[in-house]
Amino acid sequence: MALNLRPDFPLVSEPDPLIVMRGLSREFLRVGQEPLVVLDEVNLTIRSGEFVAITGPSGSGKSTLMYIMGCLDQSSGGEYLWHGQHIHQMTPKQLAYLRNHDFGFIFQSFHLLPRLVAWENVALPLIYSGVSRKQRKERACELLDRIGLGDRLEHFPSQLSGGQQQRVAIARALINQPTLILADEPTGNLDSRTSVEIMELLRNLNDQGATLVMVTHDGSLAAMAHRQVEVIDGRIARDVLLKGIPD
Ligand SMILES: Nc1ncnc2c1ncn2[C@@H]1O[C@H](COP(=O)(O)OP(=O)(O)OP(=O)(O)O)[C@@H](O)[C@H]1O
Ligand SMILES: [Mg+2]
Repeated sequence: MALNLRPDFPLVSEPDPLIVMRGLSREFLRVGQEPLVVLDEVNLTIRSGEFVAITGPSGSGKSTLMYIMGCLDQSSGGEYLWHGQHIHQMTPKQLAYLRNHDFGFIFQSFHLLPRLVAWENVALPLIYSGVSRKQRKERACELLDRIGLGDRLEHFPSQLSGGQQQRVAIARALINQPTLILADEPTGNLDSRTSVEIMELLRNLNDQGATLVMVTHDGSLAAMAHRQVEVIDGRIARDVLLKGIPD
């Protein structure tokens, strides 16, 4: 049996969890003041295939944690391992590859480009992968069709409802078949019926094998996850297993 020398860090039984964060911190420097500590000694392990809901009060550090997880921001201290590899040791090129191929981001406010139609928005990440325009269009249209927007391919974001815009954003996040989907309040700008539809879509993706980390203020959405992690004042205040991952 393995000996746990650090009882504050739970023993990881799997050889290679998707994400391991150890003693992770994020501080922001302030002129003439002490640094603002936004994440404080965060220890978090996420296994492949999990659906983790991140909850907690406004300003507690949830988005900051998501940005670091998705390598859009770097921690000030501690360790972050992706598939056992230290993020801090990766080159900017390797990080850019990770962001484009391994992570799919979904934000509360969709972040679609207003001058591009639906399929062009979805195809955007493929430009950086060097895929031809013809192939980009084919793949984007196929994906939009699969998530029920086959009749909205040539619509601009302003011509789509909030739920449809979020579907386009989800398709864009999925176009490179990411291992990890990071969703920061994906239903925050949607009515409750549309929220349920978007949640079903995300849950489906998780059932098909994608790991899903989602920030939400909504207790009933958080209850759909395998696990609920509560962040308070930049610390993990609660980490509760709600249900196991099906085999
Ligand atoms: N770039 C930055 N510079 C300075 N302070 C920042 C920066 N980004 C975030 N913060 C501060 O970090 C704290 C946590 O912010 P964060 O956005 O992570 O909170 P949150 O839990 O996502 O909140 P919400 O639920 O309102 O989205 C806040 O006090 C915020 O002002
Ligand atoms: Mg936030």
